Amino acid sequence: MLFRQIGAPHSLGTRAACSRAVASRLLRPQPARSHSSRIAPASAVAASNSKPDYSATAMATAAGNSVKADLEALFRAAIGAAFPALPDAEPMVAACNNSANGDYQCNNAMPLFGRLKGKEGAPKAPRDVATAILAALPENGVLASTSLAGPGFINIRVAGDYVATRINNMLQNGMGVWAPPLPGPYKRVIVDFSSPNVAKEMHVGHLRSTILGDTICNVLEFCGADVVRLNHIGDWGTQFGMLIQHMGEVTPGGLDAAGDQDVSDLMALYRASKARFDAEEDFKLRAREAVTRLQSGDEASLAAWRRICDASRREFNAIYSRLGVTLKERGESFYNPMLKDVVGELKELGVAVESEGATCVFVEGKEVPLIVQKSDGGYGYASTDMAAIKQRLEGEGADWIVYVTDVGQAEHFGLVFAAARRAGWLPKDEKSLEPPRVSHVGFGLVLGEDGKKFKTRSGDVVRLVELLDEAKSRCADTIRARREEAGEPIDEAELEAAACAMGYGAVKYADLKNSRLTNYRFSFDAMLDLKGNTAVYLQYAHARIASIVRKSGADPAALLAEGGQVELKHPKEVALGLALARFPEALEEMLQDLVPNRITDYLYSLSEAFNQFYTECKVVGGEEQTSRLLLCEATARTMRKCFELLGITPLYRI
Ligand code: ARG
Repeated sequence: MLFRQIGAPHSLGTRAACSRAVASRLLRPQPARSHSSRIAPASAVAASNSKPDYSATAMATAAGNSVKADLEALFRAAIGAAFPALPDAEPMVAACNNSANGDYQCNNAMPLFGRLKGKEGAPKAPRDVATAILAALPENGVLASTSLAGPGFINIRVAGDYVATRINNMLQNGMGVWAPPLPGPYKRVIVDFSSPNVAKEMHVGHLRSTILGDTICNVLEFCGADVVRLNHIGDWGTQFGMLIQHMGEVTPGGLDAAGDQDVSDLMALYRASKARFDAEEDFKLRAREAVTRLQSGDEASLAAWRRICDASRREFNAIYSRLGVTLKERGESFYNPMLKDVVGELKELGVAVESEGATCVFVEGKEVPLIVQKSDGGYGYASTDMAAIKQRLEGEGADWIVYVTDVGQAEHFGLVFAAARRAGWLPKDEKSLEPPRVSHVGFGLVLGEDGKKFKTRSGDVVRLVELLDEAKSRCADTIRARREEAGEPIDEAELEAAACAMGYGAVKYADLKNSRLTNYRFSFDAMLDLKGNTAVYLQYAHARIASIVRKSGADPAALLAEGGQVELKHPKEVALGLALARFPEALEEMLQDLVPNRITDYLYSLSEAFNQFYTECKVVGGEEQTSRLLLCEATARTMRKCFELLGITPLYRI
């Protein structure tokens, strides 16, 4: 809410404020736009001396506005007119939980009543406040009806024509018109995600970070941000000492003779060196010396290090390419040259102090400090994150940095952010949405079906490649069986592509649909279920809608070109239309708290609204054929956009 007042691209305050005598008091300065693509058409933005246009067309086609935002504009105007004594009152509009009561509701009456109490001419009851707001609503094409409920809730029904105009606008101009504004005036957003560690297996936690991070990036990009997807790979640190030392000792001819074959099984190399590191005291010492050699730039050590990194990179990339995720690698080693200066700066600023030989940042309310330099002079994970945050803010010009890691690292990032605030690199107020802003997106564990740690039967870490293989092959079996049963021809290449889309999509969706902070159980049976809130079910739902349009023989583009329009008459048409029009709100909510499950929830509820429509409304062959086919097309498009944002390849045929 805060941001809307100070800098939302769609200047609700400005638009709503102009009509009344109170205009000048409510009028807020034109906000700086976060990106130019979202400049509202002139029809929708009223200049301060002309009447605002609340017609269905003007409101439904204003760029970047949601239904909720339009209602807020109307209620802001009404509240301002009814209660000029409270010029700062913000409209409180929310979707109704129970659609039997209404589509949306306005909840201002009670709090406004509280604020007016004791003032001259104050209303006697919250219901009187609601009545006054209703009486002051400007003429508009958005509301179909309003009603008063309980102590003063205003229930709202939205006009079918207005919703239809929104959908027609999207069909004509593309899904981009439904991209909501970012939650703040951000241009460049850095998302630090995936970030596995070299020479260690990329595990399900990294898979989760990859899936969540990718969706967050996709949504930010769709909403106009310039997103930098950074892979903060763990490519530096003490583990390289033991790896390189062991490699040198077991390779005939020593480290100089080592080649790619010596890193072909990184997991084995890691396990063997770790076992020795834990068991052999002398090896431990030699491994420590190897770290020092590597850090001081010894050529043979660096060559071995590069070889290990390259081998890891090949493994990571194999996963990324299957998942269709792109990332820019910028490992921890990138920040090595900056560490000394950053620690120096923190000391000079008095942010970091010596404590028991180490250099630490103490943060109020936190028992453990952030150790930016260890007592032996070495730098660790925290030092690197301090250098990284500074480089991203100052070097990259980040307006917002988002870190996607397991929730176990929340404490670490809390310290890093607090230290950066004390150093003056970030604004003091951690709640402020003004750039530069930082967010930690934490997530829970992925558990096995038994609710315990996710591992193979033999107790090993589950290899991601095998996990993806299994999802794919199970889907391939289902699709093949289905086609054989239907007597359809099978094109192997197409089937392979469909199985990948379905299988990888199922893995992603099963992850994204959970509230990210909770742990979830990884279950192939559950994620590949044909019914319920699964990607497989939604793929079928989408393919079915696409086939309704296809089998009708009509071409949606041609229908549109001939002036075809969506009209919403039947209650189930209106309900589906409204479900479609809520797409921007789902994204807005997702961006508010960076919770991708808002999109999966939305997608599922959209498919339910479609089912109800399709059960009751004849699409092909009736009088409403054109309108209803276009409604199917709008549903399919919106579903596809959701799939795309979730990183899932939609299927048109299964
Ligand atoms: N490599 C770390 C891990 O596996 C995650 C890094 C997250 N990013 C960061 N800037 N610390 O836990």
